Amino acid sequence: MRKQECLDYSRRALLGASGALALLALLQPLRIFAQAGGGKVRIGIIGSGHIGGAIGGLWVKAGHPVLFSSRHPEELKDLVAGLGPLAQNGTVSQAVAFGDALFFAVPYGALPQLGRDYGDALQGKVVLDACNAVPARDGVIAEEVEREGIGITSQKYLLSGTRLVRAFNTLSYTIFVREANRPDPKLAIPIAADDGEALKKIAKLTPSFLAGTRGAQGTIWLDEHQNLQQTPAFPVHTVDTLGAGDVFHGAFALAITENQDVPSALRFASAAAALKCTRFGGAFAAPQRAEVSELLSHSQAAGPPSINR
Ligand SMILES: NC(=O)c1ccc[n+]([C@@H]2O[C@H](COP(=O)([O-])OP(=O)(O)OC[C@H]3O[C@@H](n4cnc5c(N)ncnc54)[C@H](OP(=O)(O)O)[C@@H]3O)[C@@H](O)[C@H]2O)c1
Repeated sequence: MRKQECLDYSRRALLGASGALALLALLQPLRIFAQAGGGKVRIGIIGSGHIGGAIGGLWVKAGHPVLFSSRHPEELKDLVAGLGPLAQNGTVSQAVAFGDALFFAVPYGALPQLGRDYGDALQGKVVLDACNAVPARDGVIAEEVEREGIGITSQKYLLSGTRLVRAFNTLSYTIFVREANRPDPKLAIPIAADDGEALKKIAKLTPSFLAGTRGAQGTIWLDEHQNLQQTPAFPVHTVDTLGAGDVFHGAFALAITENQDVPSALRFASAAAALKCTRFGGAFAAPQRAEVSELLSHSQAAGPPSINR
């Protein structure tokens, strides 16, 4: 069990966890508000296998120019031929140079090498990271992910100048293909980021409601006009962040299904996650509703530091 003696619940847990919302989204898809697609984004796909090929193909169909990469780019000829003129194939280096946004969909164990080979070129790029660490496939790095959290580990290996967003990592590619562009209510897709500028770029790639939890710095989110908003965090004495992200997402989904507006739902979720962090354990340490209500009625949320626009 992890112990932390600090006054916030860490970004680590929140960048790493999003399973609760994914599950709720499937059971009862949420529609918070639709965001207009906006302009098109040039996207480089790093790893054009199952998930890279599928998500990249959906982006091409949505009108975005996409460069699918491989260490053997000639093997992608059939894929791009079937997608039309907006799709092209190339090397990893070409994809990194091409994309305003990059979609990483490789075995997690490949990230350190990709960071070493392309780190300089990745500086300032928005990176959507779908890679999950699986011990049997990825080896010892999976232990580091378990220990440190997956968002922190990806950021470490892809270098600090990358604008990292965890996205499309919680569902099978078959579900994305099956549910894409279905009638309302849309499928909710958990995305974790602490970078407001990255959120705005991603808003062009998905109609989803976008928010990023940032521990003691509160939650950033895009309103229906795509303006960056912030919900402050509740200052608590944190002893264990295990499950904090799941509690946040579960509480948020609950509040939305109760027809709370977005600011209220985010405040409710922040309070639930903060309370969870004051006690040890995962799901069993989730607070009761009465506790959340009491915190909401008696506490002032902390004032926000500046937003990274
Ligand atoms: N499949 C899913 O539904 C799903 C869902 C969520 C998350 N994920 C995660 O997404 C990642 C990819 O999964 P996948 O199922 O799409 O795997 P996949 O079908 O095996 O595709 C992975 C691709 O990564 C490329 N690759 C491997 N090592 C590389 C390296 N060192 N440098 C550059 N490219 C490399 C390979 O391309 P070349 O050999 O052609 O270079 C391969 O096409 C994994 O981390 C997985 O856990 C998958």
